This record gives sequence, C-alpha cells and structure tokens, in this order.
Amino acid sequence: MKRFYITTAIDYVNGSPHLGHAYEKVLTDVIARFRRQMGDQVHFLTGVDEHGQKVQQSARARGIPPQQFADEVSAEFRALLPRLNIANDDFIRTTEERHKRVVRQVLQQLFDKGEIYQAEYRGFYSARQEQFLQDKDRNPDGSWPEIYGEVTEITESNYFFKLRQYQDWLVDFLARHEDFIFPRFRQKQVLEFLKEPLNDLCISRPRERLEWGIPLPFDEQYVTYVWFDALLNYYSAVADRPGTWPATWHVIGKDILVPPHAVYWPIMLHAAGLPLPGGIIAHGWWLQSGAKMSKSLGNALNPLDLVTEFGPDAFRYFVIREMNVGQDSDFTREQFLVRYNSELANNLGNLVNRTLNMTTRFAGGVIPTAGAPEEAEQELQALWARTRDEFLPLCEGFQFHTALERAMTFITATNAYIERRAPWKLGKSADPADQARLRTALATMAEALRLGTALVAAVMPGAAAKINGVLGYPPGATWTDELVWGPRLAGRKVAEALVLFPRPQPAGPAPAKP
Ligand code: ME8
Ligand code: MG
Repeated sequence: MKRFYITTAIDYVNGSPHLGHAYEKVLTDVIARFRRQMGDQVHFLTGVDEHGQKVQQSARARGIPPQQFADEVSAEFRALLPRLNIANDDFIRTTEERHKRVVRQVLQQLFDKGEIYQAEYRGFYSARQEQFLQDKDRNPDGSWPEIYGEVTEITESNYFFKLRQYQDWLVDFLARHEDFIFPRFRQKQVLEFLKEPLNDLCISRPRERLEWGIPLPFDEQYVTYVWFDALLNYYSAVADRPGTWPATWHVIGKDILVPPHAVYWPIMLHAAGLPLPGGIIAHGWWLQSGAKMSKSLGNALNPLDLVTEFGPDAFRYFVIREMNVGQDSDFTREQFLVRYNSELANNLGNLVNRTLNMTTRFAGGVIPTAGAPEEAEQELQALWARTRDEFLPLCEGFQFHTALERAMTFITATNAYIERRAPWKLGKSADPADQARLRTALATMAEALRLGTALVAAVMPGAAAKINGVLGYPPGATWTDELVWGPRLAGRKVAEALVLFPRPQPAGPAPAKP
C-alpha cells in the first residue's frame, strides 16, 4: 500500500473557528478520503497552534491563564471536526508534551551543529503577525500596512537560525522539484521572493516580553518563536510512528506559504537532516464582499450556523464545488442556496426519491435485473465511462470543483434518462417488451445512482452512506472495480423513501418536476 501522510495548518486559538478553517479541514478530508478510496494507507493530521503572543494577549484580555484559554478555544476547534464529518487520524496541540519534546530536541541539535547563534537585534516588530518587519514591508508612504496591527521599535538580544546560508540550496531544490507547490504559479512567487537575500530567522523571544511558549533548551531566558514551534507539529506528531514522515502534502492557505511554509520549513528540515515533504497545497481565501474572513477583522461567518441549518454534506459539497483550489472565492448565502437547491435537492435528492419511489411502485421494492440495453441505456453508460475516466485524474490534480461538476452532469443525465424512459408510462403498458424496458429502466437508474454516489462519497460521506443504505448496498472500501457499471444491485430491496436534502429553500431557482 502507498503511504500517504497529509496535514492541515494548525489553527491559532486566539479566536473561534470560521469558514476559512472549516474549508481547509474539509478540503484536506476530501483529499484523504479520495486517497483511501484509491487504496493508499492514509494518515491525516490536524490540530491547533497554541503558543505565541496572540494567545497570550487574548488570554490576558479575558483575565485567565493562557493554558486555560488555550484549553477552551482548542476544545471549540476540536468539536468542529466531527460536526464537519472530518475523519482525521490524529489531532495535535502544540502544548502537548510529545510536541514540546521534539521542538526542544530539534533546537538543541541545531544549536549543537552551530546553526543557531546569538546576536543583538534592533528593529520594528508586529505583535499581530509575530514577526520583525523590514523597510520593504512598509506602504509607499512609509506607514505600516494594516495587517501588521500595532508596530513598535524594539532592541533586544536574540537567537538566530542561519537561514541565509541555505538560500541557494532552496532555490536549487525548487528548480529540481517543479511541482513542490500547488498551484504552480505560487512556486514562481516563492522563487521571486528568493531573489532578495534572506535574513537569518530570529527564533527566540525574551521571556519578559513573551512568556507563553516553549523555553529554548540552551537558554531558559527565552521562549521559541511561535512559527518555529508550530511548523514542527507536522513532524512531532509522527515522530513516534516509524515510516510516517515525511508528509506527502501540507495543506495550507496562501497567506502562510511565503515565507513560513515555503522557506523556513524546508530549510529547517534540511538543516536538521530530515526528509522534505512531497509538496505544499496552498488554497485561496474565502472572502466576504471582497475582504478576507478573519478573526482579527471580526467579519467571519460562523460555519457552524450553515452546518446546523443544512448538515455537513451540503456544507462540504458547497465549499468544494464552489472553490477552485488555489483561487479565492466569495462566500454568499445566496450562492450557497442556489447550489443547494439546484444541485443537491432538485438533482441528486430528486434522483434518490425517484429511484426509491419507482422501484417501490413498479417492482415491489426490489431492484430488477436489467435486460438488453437500448439506445437510451447505451448513451447513459457511455457517459458514465467518460465521466469516470475524467473524474479520477481531476481529483488527483485537486480539481475537485470540476470533478464534482462532472459527477453532477452524470446525475442530471440520469434524471433526463428517467424522463426519456418514463417508467410511469411503461408501467401502464401490458406489452411484454415495455415491461422488459421498465425493468431495465429501474435497474439502470439504480445503478447510475450507485455510481454517481461513489463519485461524491469523499465529499458527502454521510449522504453517500445513506444512499447506499437505502439501496441495500454495502460499498467496498476502495474503488477497485467499484466504479464499473454492472448488475450488482439486482435483487436488492430498497427503502421506500429518504429525505436527503429537505426543500424548498427560498432564494433558489424554480423546483424541478416531481
Ligand atoms: O496561520 N479563507 O493559523 P490561522 C481560507 N497558526 N482560509 C483561511 C482563511 C480564509 N478566509 N482565514 C484563514 C495560522 N485561513 C498558523 C498556522 S501552521 C504550522 C500554523 C486559513 O488560524 C489560513 O490560511 O490564522 C491557515 O492555513 C489556516 O486557516 C489557519 O489560520
Ligand atoms: Mg491567520
């Protein structure tokens, strides 16, 4: 079996989870489920980033100790996972001992190798971004961009990691691994960034300024810079699982690609003599009226409201169908409802209802054996073959929005096939040829539904399990011959009804025919 280790970013616990966090978990879960269906041995890690200034500040504002604050907010992030039907294998908190131990180990190792040195530092510091700024970070008018929040000038002695000496190595590595970052245009941005000389990375914070962090093993007067601590979670979580590292993919948002994931992380691993990950998937942002949703800006839509209202499947479907991985997308409730009504309720939901209803009415609830296919069946089967052949490469290339569109086109075609065959008319005919057509039509719609369901199972695992349940069909764990059109439903007893996507929801298009 092929090993496949995938991670999400670990979320800051300085505020509640929002749509951006939920999306990243869902996207990663869809990739993980897809790989499991392909037969890979998947390990899926997610978690929370609990140290640093932001958390210390938020805890102070609440008047409670940072650990208590982190415990509360982390519980909220963790609780989101089952509600989104996320099948992660592990959840890491950076305050766990297993993580702190590895961070101390790596720091000590780098220190012993002479990769870390102490020096005086004077410069501008953004508490919100937890980073030192340079003149090139200023606006043209000399002010600091709003994303940095309050910027103060400080002088202090700190520890530095020798980033610069690895700059040429990294450029060379990226040249030799053209697909290290998905989408590809982002790799070009990284190379662009690397045209300027790198500064060594300040990896310490004096304890009098920041207490909430992992003390440096070689100087307890300092805690570890939160990014150096956080990035190591991907490794610390599997340090005790032989054969799991390196990650196959890290899934993150585009805002934390350069420099943390694309520059610091590969260099940290290389300097520590650890294997590099297979690649980084940088997704885009969910926007509301053009602005990034964020905790700091306070415009975040609570994903749980939509999940409560419509269920995890509809939510997952929407974010995966709507967003082209790597691009930004505007989130509106209106657009959510358009897709919910037209693609889920009136298309997939409708096919489920018709299949159950007609099998019950015309075949006593038992899926018949198909007879010889006529033109209508041949066309649908040919569309299936094309759909399947396009679907898998689309998923392998993270083009899930297009893959789902293809799956829905196949569902639409199946509904059109039902219109064309009109089982309700065939059912009234006494002609044995029509009775044979009726049995074939019922078998065909059920088989098409089974296959369409297999395609959307990674995105809507709950709905897929329910549909397979009402078809009396236990699917295999992987796709090996699951996706082949065949007679495997013949003789199965179906349930009478299943309401998957209750309708109508206002603000959608006109409902389809009954
Ligand atoms: O950056 N749309 O944590 P975080 C899409 N702790 N994705 C979004 C988003 C939006 N509007 N807003 C945030 C951190 N994200 C660090 C990560 S990893 C070792 C440390 C994504 O809570 C963001 O891009 O600010 C990131 O991938 C994730 O949510 C967590 O963001
Ligand atoms: Mg952020």
